[in-house]
Amino acid sequence: MDYRQLGQSGLRVSRLGIGCMSYGSPAWRPWVLDETAARPFFVRALDAGINFFDTADMYSLGVSEEVTGRLLRELGRRDELVIATKVNFPMGAGPDTPNMGGLSRKHILQGCDASLRRLGVEAIDLYQIHRFDRDVPVDETLEALHDLVRAGKVRYIGASSGSAWRMARALSISERRGWARFISMQNHYNLLYREEEREMIPLCLDQGVGLIPWSPLARGVLTRPRPSDADVRSGGTARAASDDYSPRLYDQPSDWDVVAAVERVAAGRGRPMAQIALAWLLSRPGVVAPIVGATTLSHLDSAIAALSVTLTAEECAALEAPYQPHPVKGFTV
Ligand SMILES: NC(=O)c1ccc[n+]([C@@H]2O[C@H](COP(=O)([O-])OP(=O)(O)OC[C@H]3O[C@@H](n4cnc5c(N)ncnc54)[C@H](OP(=O)(O)O)[C@@H]3O)[C@@H](O)[C@H]2O)c1
Repeated sequence: MDYRQLGQSGLRVSRLGIGCMSYGSPAWRPWVLDETAARPFFVRALDAGINFFDTADMYSLGVSEEVTGRLLRELGRRDELVIATKVNFPMGAGPDTPNMGGLSRKHILQGCDASLRRLGVEAIDLYQIHRFDRDVPVDETLEALHDLVRAGKVRYIGASSGSAWRMARALSISERRGWARFISMQNHYNLLYREEEREMIPLCLDQGVGLIPWSPLARGVLTRPRPSDADVRSGGTARAASDDYSPRLYDQPSDWDVVAAVERVAAGRGRPMAQIALAWLLSRPGVVAPIVGATTLSHLDSAIAALSVTLTAEECAALEAPYQPHPVKGFTV
């Protein structure tokens, strides 16, 4: 396994991260695997040298952190593992739980303690804001995150999906105040959504922030040919049928031209489409470790195999040519 430094930090992560949104409770999403079903994925990933596992407090409403923590504590070497989780989305429902989400000092401090309890670890290696919070002064958020680092509860901090200007402002404030600084950006970036190339990625390259993209295979859409009725929901899997976020992200007719390009390059190479889409992302500047979702072991094996695929300049050009600009997807501007 190849390990890379995450941005300008000293933290070394494997070239693939395992997305633990897929593991937790099927009561949360029908395609999510429970702990027994998830176990072989952790065994296989660790055997392959993967050391980077990404979850969030809200995945399966805390159960993903519990499953991830238990399996990694049992199967992994804690000192080598990079356990990442996130905070922001509501952990309580209803109008009487105003402090159960967001990036206030109160929610960050209590959210971190709750994540530590569920994960069963003494510190979170990478604590990420799941989105920016427009209602909370960013100084309050950044100081709370810095305090967690100083307290030893969090080793590094990262951000996920937002406007580049918010990220730039946050990096600048942390620097001016001498606070811990975001080392990573977990953004929505794949062959079907490349708007991040306009502002966020150049900013991250300039500032030494490592990219760890989410949904690198466009939630499965990049892994199979266009279905006959061109509806992402008809991809023939439990996730395709029930992942209600996917049709909102990938709804542009030109997306199917990109899928067709992946199909052509994959056929030319004699490789599955998933490996070609992932190899492209791995080749992009600043991308340290795409965070892949796997619900069959073959998904995981395919992701690992993609690490040894090097695309030619012509193949990359063919994959990129059909792309048309998209409205911002994955966060609210
Ligand atoms: N920060 C954020 O806001 C955010 C948002 C989303 C996700 N994430 C993180 O990113 C992780 C990954 O997200 P994701 O699951 O959406 O990523 P993804 O890798 O784009 O999609 C995974 C899906 O693609 C299909 N797939 C994967 N490998 C395949 C292969 N080799 N052949 C055929 N199909 C394959 C499977 O869908 P089928 O079952 O349909 O075949 C699988 O469930 C999450 O677990 C989470 O940690 C973060």
